[in-house]
Amino acid sequence: MRIIVCKNYDELSEKAANIVASQLTLKPDSVLGLATGSTPLGTYKNLVKMYNEGEIDFSAVKTFNLDEYYPIKKDNSQSYDKFMKDNLFSGINIKPENTHIPDGETDNPTAECEAYEKAIKENGGIDLQILGIGQNGHIGFNEPDVNLNSFTHLTNLTENTIKANSRFFASSDEVPRQAITMGIASILKARKILLLASGANKSRVVGELLNDGINTSVPATLLKTHPDVVLICDEDAYSGSKLGVDIGGTNIKFAVIEGKNLLFKCKIKTPEKSDDIINAICDKTIELKKEYNIKSAGIGTPGTIKNGLVTADNLPFDDFPLEKVIAEKTGLYISVDNDANCAALGELIFGNTKDCEHIILVTIGTGIGGGIIMNRQICHSNNNMGEIGHFIIQSEKGRECTCGQKGCWEQYCSATALVKDAEKAAEKDTESLLYKRMRENGKMDGETFFKALDEGCKTAEKVYKHYIKYLARGIESLVNIFGPDAVVLAGGVTQQGDKLLKPLYAELKKDIRIEISSLQSDAGALGAAML
Ligand code: GLP
Repeated sequence: MRIIVCKNYDELSEKAANIVASQLTLKPDSVLGLATGSTPLGTYKNLVKMYNEGEIDFSAVKTFNLDEYYPIKKDNSQSYDKFMKDNLFSGINIKPENTHIPDGETDNPTAECEAYEKAIKENGGIDLQILGIGQNGHIGFNEPDVNLNSFTHLTNLTENTIKANSRFFASSDEVPRQAITMGIASILKARKILLLASGANKSRVVGELLNDGINTSVPATLLKTHPDVVLICDEDAYSGSKLGVDIGGTNIKFAVIEGKNLLFKCKIKTPEKSDDIINAICDKTIELKKEYNIKSAGIGTPGTIKNGLVTADNLPFDDFPLEKVIAEKTGLYISVDNDANCAALGELIFGNTKDCEHIILVTIGTGIGGGIIMNRQICHSNNNMGEIGHFIIQSEKGRECTCGQKGCWEQYCSATALVKDAEKAAEKDTESLLYKRMRENGKMDGETFFKALDEGCKTAEKVYKHYIKYLARGIESLVNIFGPDAVVLAGGVTQQGDKLLKPLYAELKKDIRIEISSLQSDAGALGAAML
């Protein structure tokens, strides 16, 4: 089975329509097998558009639909007969006599099924079969525990399908309890099959299709016996259950994702020794693997990863083969990336910047970290890419940095830098409210600083102005180099919300979209799951 994963439903619909169009270019008198349901709607829309633009011609095409409810009147708004007329046939130049849909009005369904199967054969068989997939794995209306050798037949719908399809009817009582459907054997006779799956509600069944063996309880898995199947799905449908692990100096966080839904999250204290860290991650992973049927996990770790080996200053990892060790112990497919990169990916997929292609995440904490996403992919290199806290914003006279350079951005704009500057300013101006608040608190910290700022302290205002100026210059430089759609800010300082954003926007000389992270410290584990 060839698998194409698309960013979203629109891309899926475009790709599927292109495959149908290629089929018609190669064989203008193709016999198409068509599906209903919401999934192929976008494909049909694209086909109508392509026809209107003169790209494809349906004059010689013949079609056979997979199924029809039984009994149902053709003019019922939910009949598949009406669906096809409304959504495809009325928009293209197909001859009505060339379209075939099982007759839901017949008094003799057995004869109708036989005649339908015969007609498919007489027209040369299906060249390209489009399929959707039910949440329980049905294809057409071939429900679980399907008969492998079935041709077109009358079938009872399962409760699951009645419930799922009741969204189109006034109530579930109105959903017909039976349907006429091509059988598995009819479907597998098609020369080529195009299976479409969209949305998180399909991620479980797509996971079963891809990871489980062939079995009649998930009818779609029978497609694996066919030599030419293309599965096109969007990211939501493709995901399945995934585990994300974010290793921090204090805590290790875990997140289980299905589609784009967070099923579970937890954290444990980070042990001191590397062996204990590995054991703690593996024990939790194995426990969650069983509970959530997880197939893959992503791990975010501080430090650098070169050729699969992790080296982190604040964790006991020195050229440590983290990916290999955890994969061996858990039996899962594992990917490892830098924690800030994972957080950036988390922001792109789950945060406020879902609509973006390119973002930069700036985490303002003890230092400044970050991740760069371009074209929805993490930017990597083998040389510490993304250390945005260490670009030099002030030359020779710049402040000394822990990295050995002078004038690194984080020396001006990390939370540590802000607190240090506030402390210095307070010491210098012992008359100030900032000084008073510092004395009351026993030390300077972020909360004390913002308290004095809120109270209108001029000394605090001066410190903040300086801070915002450097923050703005740094962001502008990043935007000049990378041209992202948005810059996402995370970390304790961003809790200030508008108190940070307003002066920042006022200081910025460029038109830049700034977002404050809605995920904050959860972004790492969420992004790791999606690696
Ligand atoms: C119906 C159809 C199937 C279709 C399925 C999924 O039951 N008989 O052919 O694949 O629904 O529909 P949807 O694409 O709306 O999820």
